[in-house]
Amino acid sequence: MDRRAQFLEVLGIRTEWLPKGMPKGMPKGMPVGAATSAREAVQADNVAQPVPMADAGPRGAAHQPIPEDAPAVARVSPVVPQRAAEIAAMDWAALEASVSGCTACGLCESRTNTVLGVGDRAAEWMLVGEAPGQNEDLQGEPFVGQAGKLLDNMLGALNLARGHNVFIANVLKCRPPENRDPAPNEVEQCEPYLRRQIALIRPKVIVVLGRFAAQSLLRTTTPIGKLRGTVHEYEGIPVVVTYHPAYLLRTLTDKARAWEDLCLAREVHDRAGAQA
Ligand code: URA
Repeated sequence: MDRRAQFLEVLGIRTEWLPKGMPKGMPKGMPVGAATSAREAVQADNVAQPVPMADAGPRGAAHQPIPEDAPAVARVSPVVPQRAAEIAAMDWAALEASVSGCTACGLCESRTNTVLGVGDRAAEWMLVGEAPGQNEDLQGEPFVGQAGKLLDNMLGALNLARGHNVFIANVLKCRPPENRDPAPNEVEQCEPYLRRQIALIRPKVIVVLGRFAAQSLLRTTTPIGKLRGTVHEYEGIPVVVTYHPAYLLRTLTDKARAWEDLCLAREVHDRAGAQA
């Protein structure tokens, strides 16, 4: 069985059903910069992502669906420069202490644990999700629920494993209650932490998981279907966008696309290695 077939099996697809008229045997890798055809991107936006599903619950069923084109960042209020500057100068120990004692937004009142992130601090791969869910809040580690199992399998399909050359973090370090969407001020307060993590790790590639994380990190309102398939940049580091594993657990049609995204990320990573 080839690696793509293995990946699809890991995702629970033994028989692949494609929309009518769509060519079978999608490409195994994608050229950097224009990996999906416009038609495919449009399909991903208009057909394969029923809006409520794409957003219904990266962190659980109670997650409020919001429209795919809803701006995740445009609603953010002004930044807090002094706080951001302090965080930008922190080492890992200071960052850990700052996150675990953070009271910058109301999420500190309902959290059990902060979730800084997990993995190799010299990793070449960094994965960024949205925010901790219930299990993550209880255990203090990102992606430990069902979506996390799928994420581990996705990493395995790339010959990677949690903790080995991979660091996993979220946009938010605390769980939004009832798994609601992160609020703009929460993103604003937490963003300097992720920015600092990325600066300390300097991965070769960042894989962003899901619409919310992608729009927050890239400061855009572009729908995820249009963000994937292209290599973006964050502070000079290449960024590849893919679907959130929780969404993939529910959405058969986009699982093959996730494999394409990971192939693109692998290509970007390997290319960066060749330059090093
Ligand atoms: N979903 C996320 O985006 N992050 C987690 O850590 C868990 C679920």
